[in-house]
This record gives sequence, structure tokens and C-alpha cells, in this order.
Amino acid sequence: MAKSWAPDSWRSFPIKQQPQWPDEADLDRALKQIAGYPPLVFAGEARSLQSGLAQVAAGNAFLLQAGDCAESFEEFTANNIREKLRVILQMAVVLTYGMGVPVVKVGRIAGQFAKPRSADFEQVGGEDIPSFRGHIVNGEGPTSAARTPAPERLVQAYHQSAATLNLVRAFTKGGFAALDRVHAWNQEFVSSSPEGQRYHQLANEIDRALRFMRATGMDTESNANLREVDVWTSHEALLLGYEEALTRQDSTTGGWYDCSAHMLWIGERTRELDGAHIEFLRGVGNPIGCKVGPSMTGDDVIALCEALNPAHIPGRLTLITRMGADRIEAGLPPLLRAVRDAGHPVVWACDPMHGNTYTSPGGRKTRAFDDVMREVEGFVQAHRAEGTWPGGIHIELTGADVTECIGGGDQISDSDLDHRYETMCDPRLNGRQALDLAFRTAELVRQGVD
Ligand code: TRP
Ligand code: MN
Repeated sequence: MAKSWAPDSWRSFPIKQQPQWPDEADLDRALKQIAGYPPLVFAGEARSLQSGLAQVAAGNAFLLQAGDCAESFEEFTANNIREKLRVILQMAVVLTYGMGVPVVKVGRIAGQFAKPRSADFEQVGGEDIPSFRGHIVNGEGPTSAARTPAPERLVQAYHQSAATLNLVRAFTKGGFAALDRVHAWNQEFVSSSPEGQRYHQLANEIDRALRFMRATGMDTESNANLREVDVWTSHEALLLGYEEALTRQDSTTGGWYDCSAHMLWIGERTRELDGAHIEFLRGVGNPIGCKVGPSMTGDDVIALCEALNPAHIPGRLTLITRMGADRIEAGLPPLLRAVRDAGHPVVWACDPMHGNTYTSPGGRKTRAFDDVMREVEGFVQAHRAEGTWPGGIHIELTGADVTECIGGGDQISDSDLDHRYETMCDPRLNGRQALDLAFRTAELVRQGVD
């Protein structure tokens, strides 16, 4: 695409999934304020992530992208952030050890606030009130006052993202993520379970390996590789006014970067080729993800690759498939062939969550752990059959001991869902389920390698 681009060129394209802000002037004031604030991430960091993802695209590394469906303004505590990070580190170490390749870690964190909705309004007690669109837009309470979009929430989301990112940086660089603390990431409610026990054994093996390295004379204390990790940030780039306000020109390269997060993705509902979201994201230098649902054909996916990555830059584009466990076997292989034959160096990641959501008999939105695993399995098998690399997984999880997804090691049943169903949005894996998934994913991928 040789068409010109500017941070605001999306404004002349058709756009979906934007809130109806009651007062445009209020909105503009909030966006101007954010545009004057410092960037949350730097262009150079986005480029480092992109080189990591290029390694994934080449089959030499694996992507773990994980976090909340939607972050909450109310559950914004150090505890919450630390527990989420703990599960991500556990999964990462299980995948790294199990597969023997580097794991690129990306959180759905520090900016994952905005949600697309199937309807603009919802009927409550005979009244039409705006749908809940995430705390960056409105409150989830079922009243028209709570649901009225409020632009000051955009500013609050910026500040919460900044504080979250600050803590993530402190935890990942300040000793918490050091490999000699691998035992300490096992939370109590996890360690009592079979997955927790399995993790404990793996942690023992890592301890032994570290002792061995020290015994050989290697200085494991001062080696930054063993003490620090990069956990990058990402969210769905949905509210383009907010994303534009944080888009800045990089002084070293002159390129534009969306400095609200290291990686941004486009949702299944906003990926029209001639729509505003593709227009905006094609122009920023960050690595970009795009969700790929079961209705997409090989031609659709190629058109997407051409729009978002015409220069075929490895690591620039991650295709996140969300097919559903029953549809992946038939749906994915034609897409893998089309992209391979067109020579597009993409990262293929599996979102085994969003295609497997259903409503339980008790009325809760849930997902069955078995369906999630079946989709990962179908994903790995399809890649094996086509000779492509199953590059990563994209998971909704929380550090808390919730009961939102059915099944898993502790056999959460339909009637258990009410115990601790805390999500504001989609059902998330709890710590045990997430760890179990990491072990099984590592096994599935390794089967093809050893
Ligand atoms: N820095 C390495 C990495 O990111 C090793 C490492 C240190 C690590 N702490 C970790 C890996 C925590 C996973 C989890 O891979
Ligand atoms: Mn979700």
C-alpha cells in the first residue's frame, strides 16, 4: 500500500465498535490531555519484541501471550498484578524447559481495557442502556448512569497502565523473576494440586541445573539472563482515539509507534480491510496481531498479510487463530498453506479460548478446559501436517483461584462456577488450569521435535 498514512488517517474510514460518547468536546479534551503525556513504552522496546517474534516466525522460539480478558479499575492492586505475573512466569518456565526454545512473553496487561460488544444496547428492566465496553469506557453496573461512556476514564486507563507497567518492570528486572526463585512462584493453592507437584519437580530440576552451573565456576548471581525477563505489554487496539493520542514519532528512525503498548492486536470484529482499525495499525511500527476466526479463507488471510505487512517483515505480524475445537482441524490447514505459499513470515498463535465459549445450564458464560486443550492439540497437529511452526498460545488467565472455566485437574463442574466467578468479561483459566495447559502444550509441541 503506497497510500499515505498519518496517525489520524483512520478518521476518514468506516469504524466499528466505538462508544457513543455523550459529549465530543469532553472526549477531545481527554484525548488532548493524553496526547501531552509521556509515552508508556519506547519504540526501541517494540523493535526488540519484534526481533523476538521474528525468531518465533522462524521456528526458533515460542510465544506466550496471556492475561485478563479485561483489566478492571476496581481490582487494581499490587497483589493482583504480582499473582498474574507469577502464573505467566510459571507457564513460561514450563514451556522453556519443556520445549528447549526461548519463550517470548507478552502480557494482556497494562492497557487491556476496551471490549467489543455484539450489541450497542442491552435491555434492563424494559429500558435500553448502553452495553458495557470495559472500564476505559463505562462501568459494568446495569444502570444507565453507570453505562454512560465517560471520557475521564480514558485518562484513568492511561494512569493505571503506567502504574501497572511500572510494577511489571520492577518485578521482572528487580529479582522477583530470577530463576533461583522458581519455587517461589508456585502459589499455595496451586502447590497442593498435581500440576503444582509437577511444577515443584521441574523447579527442583532447574535448581540442580543452576547448582551444577555454579559448581563449574559459572557466576549465576550476576548473569542478567538468569535474573531478569522481558514481559512485554499488549492489548486490543480498539479505541482508536486513545491509540492515536499515544502514537509518537520515533526520534531515531522517524517511524511512528503506538506507545500505549509494545504489541497491539486487531479483534475478529474490527478487521475489515477497508476499515479504520486496519488503516491505523498498518502505519505504526509495533508488532501487530490479528485474530483469525473460522470464517476466514486463505485469500482473506493473504489480503490481511498484504495490508498489515506488505514488506514481509518477520515478526511484524502475528496471526492469532480462534477457530473452536471442532473447527480447527478443517479450518486451519488451508490457511497455513496459503500463507506459506505466499511467503509471508508470520507468527501463528493459537487462541484456544474465544472459539470455545458457551453458556452453562446455570447461565454462566464458561469454557471447558478439555475443549481448550483440544483446540491446542488441533493447532499443533495442523502445523505438524503442513510443516509449519506452531508458534505460540494466547490465553485468558488470572492469578486468582477462580472457578470460571469447567474441568481441569480439579474438575470444576457446572455447579462450582458460582463459587468464585469473578470475571467482568470472559471466563479465565485459574492458576492450576493455566499451569496444566503449559505442561500439556510443551508435550504436544515437543512430540514433533524429539
Ligand atoms: N531470561 C531468560 C528468559 O527470559 C531466563 C529466565 C529468567 C526466565 N527468569 C525467568 C524464563 C522466568 C522464564 C521465567 O527466558
Ligand atoms: Mn475475551
